[in-house]
Amino acid sequence: MTTAADRLAGQRPPSPPQGPTALPELPPEVVAEWQASGGPLVELLTRARELGPLSAFTLGPRRTVLVTGPEQVQHVLGQHNDGYVKQSHRAGVLLGDGVISAAGEPWRQQRKLLQSQFTQIGLRRWEQRIADAARRTERRWAELARTGEATDVAGDMQFFALDTIWRTLTGLPLDERTHHELDNINVVVATLSALTATAPADSARVEQALAQIDATCARAITTAREQSRDGLAPEQTGLLHLLLEAARTRPEYTDRLIRDELVNLLVAGHETTAKTLAWLFLRLEQNPEVRTRAVAVCRSGSETERREMINALINETLRLHPAVWLIPRHAAVDDTLDGFHVEAGSHVLVCPYLTHRDPELWPAPEQFDPWRFIEPGRRPTRQGSFYPFGLGARACLGQQFSFREMVALLELLLPSYGLLYRELPSSTFFGVVMCPDGPMRAEVRGLSDPPPTPGE
Ligand code: HEM
Repeated sequence: MTTAADRLAGQRPPSPPQGPTALPELPPEVVAEWQASGGPLVELLTRARELGPLSAFTLGPRRTVLVTGPEQVQHVLGQHNDGYVKQSHRAGVLLGDGVISAAGEPWRQQRKLLQSQFTQIGLRRWEQRIADAARRTERRWAELARTGEATDVAGDMQFFALDTIWRTLTGLPLDERTHHELDNINVVVATLSALTATAPADSARVEQALAQIDATCARAITTAREQSRDGLAPEQTGLLHLLLEAARTRPEYTDRLIRDELVNLLVAGHETTAKTLAWLFLRLEQNPEVRTRAVAVCRSGSETERREMINALINETLRLHPAVWLIPRHAAVDDTLDGFHVEAGSHVLVCPYLTHRDPELWPAPEQFDPWRFIEPGRRPTRQGSFYPFGLGARACLGQQFSFREMVALLELLLPSYGLLYRELPSSTFFGVVMCPDGPMRAEVRGLSDPPPTPGE
């Protein structure tokens, strides 16, 4: 029988939702121990990750939230990017107000201008330059195979990626002088902390490097301006000419902002691709069975099979070694994330490196197994499990571009050359970009019985 009390209970409003709970937090003594050890940040983050897909710790005055779970990553980068913003970029000293560090309306306008050049159609314009840069590196390896001289594989990848982006920006191949001057970008990047915008240790050296970068950019801008004035065929123009064109009607595109955009595209567009290629060659060396199988496909598979294989090699490399291994944000407002409270003002670290090595998402995560990206059902279906190019509105502008250039080079090198290493790095440097810590010296060997070239 229903009593009056039961009837009342039925009418009762549902109990209010539980408020957000505090995030699981690393004890301060663990943080202090890590600080005293002088170990890399990734060690502290790996400890924090053990607490779950969302965790927190306090580092100095800052409360830091670590985000590694797929859904939580989606929330921060994909769905709430207005609440989790970029702030005081780690590389601000180098990037100025360029598209990587800009925010709000200026960023939206800057991104819109560049975006059209990186779509499927926009990219067609750069195909030839990518192909020319790839052939240049291939010619170098052919020559090295002939002479037996050793090379630094990571250095060659750096040159290739810089040559590609330089051709795309200016329409010109990278010359020795500019190459030497732009090495200063690496000088500055190497001093930047993965975590915060701190003053570089050797500020005099950094100042000097920045002055040289500025001078190189100023020269490139002057040359492009003169070329535009003299009239240049569209196939000879680069992104820099597009920026100069924009400056005619948009006063915000001062020479300073054009310099910043140029540097942003140079930085974003070469370090990341170069390090990914270096990691890929290193992984092939460490996994001879994978190398033998993959090279066989590249030498004798159909075009589809070759493409599929190379794409899988790149993806598996990006899974284990996402060049941008840490994506920092600033919580601009209070938020509830997966039932936990994230305070406004928190420092938020989204970490593809740890997501990509989560055994619940990626079985045997430490194994270099490109076939995960080929064989059906072997990839996690949860969105946010794989994001080497970031996610959401601020995801990488150059994702397709970098794939094109990596595929173009690997299609030439993998079927035709083997490497005999003389020196290999044994550790990883976790800076703004994660990279093999040391030279990769190798002799280049032409593989016997090269496959016939098309048309032969
Ligand atoms: C393997 C190569 C690459 C990787 C792994 C990579 C990764 C990333 C990631 C993770 C972000 C997002 C950062 C964030 O959300 O804070 C990003 C942004 C960006 N990337 Fe890439 N990138 C690569 C190549 C390139 C190339 C080749 C270009 C240009 C040609 C490029 C241009 C940019 C730009 C301009 C942004 C900033 C976008 C914005 O804030 O609106 N990237 N990249």
